[in-house]
Amino acid sequence: MLAEINSLVDPDNGFISTRIFAEQEIYEQELEQIFARCWLFLCHESQIPKPGDFLTTYMGEDPILVTRDRGGKINAFLNICRHRGNRLCRADNGNAAAFICAYHGWAYSNDGALQAVPNLQDAYYSELDTNKWGLVPVAQLDSYKGLIFATFDSSAPPLLDYLGDVTWYLDFFFDRREGGVEVVGGMHKSIIPANWKLPSENFCGDGYHTGWSHLSAVTTGFGGDFRSKPSGEGKVISTGNGHCIVALGAEDQTDPSVPEIIAYEAEIKAEVDKRMGARMQLVKPHAGTLFPNFSMLRSIARVFRVWQPKGPGSTEIQSGVFVDKAAPPEVKEAFRIQAIRSFGPSGSFEQDDMDNWQGCSESGRGFISKRQRLNISMGMGHENFDEKLAGWASDYRISENNHRNYYRRWGQMMSGASWSEL
Ligand code: FES
Ligand SMILES: [Fe+2]
Repeated sequence: MLAEINSLVDPDNGFISTRIFAEQEIYEQELEQIFARCWLFLCHESQIPKPGDFLTTYMGEDPILVTRDRGGKINAFLNICRHRGNRLCRADNGNAAAFICAYHGWAYSNDGALQAVPNLQDAYYSELDTNKWGLVPVAQLDSYKGLIFATFDSSAPPLLDYLGDVTWYLDFFFDRREGGVEVVGGMHKSIIPANWKLPSENFCGDGYHTGWSHLSAVTTGFGGDFRSKPSGEGKVISTGNGHCIVALGAEDQTDPSVPEIIAYEAEIKAEVDKRMGARMQLVKPHAGTLFPNFSMLRSIARVFRVWQPKGPGSTEIQSGVFVDKAAPPEVKEAFRIQAIRSFGPSGSFEQDDMDNWQGCSESGRGFISKRQRLNISMGMGHENFDEKLAGWASDYRISENNHRNYYRRWGQMMSGASWSEL
């Protein structure tokens, strides 16, 4: 398959194939080579603060149960009963000491141990070794500034190495004030008829579409900050390992234009500038994607998204609102409402985007259209490695520099390179 991957993505010449958004075989290889190997975002610590709290999500198409056990330790398991494979926990989130399977009643404690099996003495003659049939854990679990990640690959590098130089940018989103952030409200979940890579690449570096796709939303005032035209000072920055950040100029306004939010941002500006250091004088990050499918946004709304793959033409969007923990309650509420207006399933921006992503995904299904190459050449040759920004940065704020680096990483992972080769 190695040779074929090279024909699907050619970042050095600025091409990708429509096939990567449509074909079942490519999709299945993604589940194996990308989703079963990379560090994937699970949730934020504030979503499971107390012992017994749990949340269900996915790693690729594998269902995952994240728990905080009685001892306060965070765990992640396949959300699958070990008996006959029934989905163990059906709830999105909650608090439970144990999880009892709906089919035959096997019961697991929130640390994953198999605690009780109906008819263990009579039907199993006490011959079932329950110690061997606890829930299947992920291979590695770790967190960065409250963001919890896991991988199914025991040979994957430590999380900090995997993140590399994107950490400063993550700090600006999730740790710019003492105490970091918390997630407010529940997760919005919706299914869109589009391939998971389209939203991932959009958040990774598509400043190009904003002024056009979202023109109506911007004109009617939903865009907030985009009513004030950004300067040319912004950059798209690839920090390595496929992780990508979109930044505007340091003096550009990148906060949602809601009076409570504008006032709050003015109040904390000096504190944030001091905490974040010299790089704050160069750029102001406003969106980004961690390879493969975790994205973040802080301009129109403070939201993070997980683009969960559900087949080549379907994606479950999981969307959460994050706010500085130290912010006053009325400011937190203002962020929550702004997120629903703009980036919830009914949000004005969300709808513009998904209609286009659907169109892009469907094009790869036709026999002739499948042979077409797509263009990601914008700004090629007009990017430089910038030591101060710790990544390959475009000269101009609109560029497909990040798209090329995102798909370069996709090609490397898909071709089955080992972690040491990567
Ligand atoms: S499938 Fe879960 S107890 Fe049988
Ligand atoms: Fe958009």
